Amino acid sequence: MAAGKGTRMKSALPKVLHKLAGHSLLQHVLDAAAALGPQRTVVITGHGADEVEAAVAASGAVFARQMPQLGTGHAVQQAVPALVDEAGTTLVLNGDVPLIRTDTARALAQACGGTRLALLTVTLDDATGYGRIVRSPQGAVLGIVEHKDASPEQRSIREIYTGILAAPTAALKRWVGALKNDNAQREYYLTDIVAMAVAEGCEVVAAQPASDTEVLGVNSPVQLADLERRLQRLRAEALMEAGVRLADPARFDLRGTLQCGSDVEIDVNCVFEGEVVLGDGVRIGANCVLRNARIDTGAVIHPFTHIDGEAAGVRVGAGALVGPFARLRPGADLGPEVHIGNFVEVKNSTLARGAKANHLAYLGDATVGERVNYGAGSITANYDGANKHRTVIEADAHIGSNCVLVAPVTIGAGATIGGGSTISKNAPAGQLTVARARQATMPGWQRPKKAPKG
Ligand code: UD1
Ligand code: MG
Repeated sequence: MAAGKGTRMKSALPKVLHKLAGHSLLQHVLDAAAALGPQRTVVITGHGADEVEAAVAASGAVFARQMPQLGTGHAVQQAVPALVDEAGTTLVLNGDVPLIRTDTARALAQACGGTRLALLTVTLDDATGYGRIVRSPQGAVLGIVEHKDASPEQRSIREIYTGILAAPTAALKRWVGALKNDNAQREYYLTDIVAMAVAEGCEVVAAQPASDTEVLGVNSPVQLADLERRLQRLRAEALMEAGVRLADPARFDLRGTLQCGSDVEIDVNCVFEGEVVLGDGVRIGANCVLRNARIDTGAVIHPFTHIDGEAAGVRVGAGALVGPFARLRPGADLGPEVHIGNFVEVKNSTLARGAKANHLAYLGDATVGERVNYGAGSITANYDGANKHRTVIEADAHIGSNCVLVAPVTIGAGATIGGGSTISKNAPAGQLTVARARQATMPGWQRPKKAPKG
């Protein structure tokens, strides 16, 4: 169910598209559902339907539109025609309850087993606002009463409905078709199907999730931030249990997947996005952002480094040192023992073993050989205003400070380029090439003097 507006988010973005750990709330729910291997996934959309459907189009779900939104029962009414296997089980999930675990959802579907109505419930200290589970003195579930419709006595019930249930598909179709809206909110309540099931002798069972976090909903930015920290804590704990040393699990953010070798250390305030792989013994300094990158064994990423591989990816070779304040962009491929220092930007460039660019430099569309030393302030002028061109710097070349290498250009092996040179023609191997005005001293030159006043 993803048709609601989410008024309390106070946002133009439909609630289910707000991001938790880098993915929309709805995507989290769809991922949990997909792990069950369902025959079909139906997403009920309404508010912002075009935007919501476009955002999760890749999931393979089918969409049922609910216009206008007349309640959760009305929502499910729109979806049931798409449920073709009448003998199957239908699991109803909430688009704004993102942390439901696949195991819990599977257990609920199994509790239904195509014959029973299975409700996911929890017991809360403060049940205000939720539908209460009404049981007989013997403990059998009799129905759900919404908070707004509940008597004072019913409001003292602390067992609540989480919004998640599993029902026999044929019966669900029948039940939602018979719903009425004679209640406090003039809505078609999905929860009214419980009393219908009881009335026709269908067994109703209640199951509980392993943790309350799984069933917390997002209605406001405060709740979204609370779930974010809970999810990040779980991810941090899973990594630490696998041996990763996090300086502070409360200051760690994983918004994609992170695969770590042994003896990995991650300092505070690092953000990992997309797919990141850290080899054995990798150390990540404080305040780094890494996205779509592979960092090999023993490499060190110093603080405040930004690595974004986008689609092409970034690779940092074994034992390389990067940062502080470095920027590695798509296609940066650093070999073993490469050093990239402060305020150095590397894009679509390969640096072979032991090459160094330690200060204030730009390498774009470059092929850099082994042990090259690339001086402070030097840049590859790779863009002529229309096209990109390559710079090749062969092994053991030494590029002085503040050079401009105007691509396409090749610097031969072992060449030295004098500081301040603008190199627009190939520089031969093994020799010193200088391309700047010669220094001159003017003998007898005198500074101008101020003209006398008056
Ligand atoms: C619902 C349950 C309540 C339960 C609570 C748990 C009903 C009648 N009540 O109440 O028992 O304790 O969830 O959080 O089901 N939606 C639609 N179309 C609509 C209305 C809602 O798609 O017309 C979607 C919303 O986007 C949301 C979900 O259904 O994902 C739940 O709707 P919401 O309005 O939050 O229901 P509650 O009043 O919280
Ligand atoms: Mg709600």
